[in-house]
Amino acid sequence: MAEQIIVNYFLPPSIQFGAGAIKQLGEHVCAFGGKKPLIVTDEGVTNAGILSRTVAPLESAQIDYAIFDAVQPNPTDLSVLEGLKGYRTEGCDLVIAVGGGSVMDAAKAIRILTTHEPPLENYYVDVGGIDRITNNLPALICIPTTAGTGSEVSQGSIITDTSGRTTEGHRKRAISTPYNMASLALLDPELTVGMPPGLTAATGMDAVTHGVEAYVATRYHPIAEGVALQALKILGKNIRQAYHQGNDVEARGEMLIASAMAAFSFQKGLGAVHSLAHQLSTEANIPHGIANAILLPEVMIFNLPHAVDGYADIAGALGIDTSGISKADAADAAIAEIRSLNEEFSIPTGLGVAGLKRERIPKIAKDAMLDHCYKFNPRPCTKADMHNLFEAAF
Ligand SMILES: [Fe+2]
Repeated sequence: MAEQIIVNYFLPPSIQFGAGAIKQLGEHVCAFGGKKPLIVTDEGVTNAGILSRTVAPLESAQIDYAIFDAVQPNPTDLSVLEGLKGYRTEGCDLVIAVGGGSVMDAAKAIRILTTHEPPLENYYVDVGGIDRITNNLPALICIPTTAGTGSEVSQGSIITDTSGRTTEGHRKRAISTPYNMASLALLDPELTVGMPPGLTAATGMDAVTHGVEAYVATRYHPIAEGVALQALKILGKNIRQAYHQGNDVEARGEMLIASAMAAFSFQKGLGAVHSLAHQLSTEANIPHGIANAILLPEVMIFNLPHAVDGYADIAGALGIDTSGISKADAADAAIAEIRSLNEEFSIPTGLGVAGLKRERIPKIAKDAMLDHCYKFNPRPCTKADMHNLFEAAF
């Protein structure tokens, strides 16, 4: 054991996985004693016809439900309050999230406020919110419609704070506690089949980033390390197929389970990529997965002196033949593989192309230091490092 410390590990929630799993939704609601779930979703999910596939099993089980379908990308605290209003006025007693990371994060925050006095600001991790959140919460079923964020098995919710009290303008802040985990993650690959290639790539690269950052994060967590490596193995084997052949249900299923595994693994910690990327969604409207994909190779180069062995393991997991080459060469090959995936998926070649204005870098480098993720980065980061990483990825 690397450190003689007392550690506490949380396992993922109950996971129901398989093509057609959505059909059993009514039974799960009943098992939790739910009489009227609030379904939290967004316009994209509704328009893709996934919402109707979610309510069908509820209707056949004669379960009444209400819908809050106005979650915006990068959900704000205001949007959470709107959902809470729906929960209360409709007399709901359980929450079902159907969507990607934004929807699941918003649903998790709505669920907290159903039993914890607003404002949401009291519950962010950076103000000690973890000690204010109890297990007195209604059941939450998370049904991801993308394969990447892994919010369905993570302890975190990322919410855009509009209070302006901690920084100039809006800032992404995290809620993180084991009680924030879903009661059930329902993974049905058939719901992800219609995802367009661009979204498959962006969310898939988010999952890859979770695995890479978690594996080399500094917290002692051998369980998460093993899961991260296996997640990367499955992602490396299936991400291209899911991108090019979106109707391959098997590849979609592998991506879905691997993204849940990668998200479980980041209980070990994430790293600088996420602290940097969180600034880009509020500042430049760059989707989270795209921001991660662009930043990941630059952060890996920055981390290299502190993470050679880890990156060499990652190269092997991603399917690169590392036999007979040095650890340093294998680590370089892992970085090259990330670049090659980005190129194949037509990820923008830099943050400037993706929409960031260069003159905003000093401000967002400062804000990145307020984000907790980099604290587990294998190489310690300063504000100047954050600035240089934004420049390198520009
Ligand atoms: Fe992420």
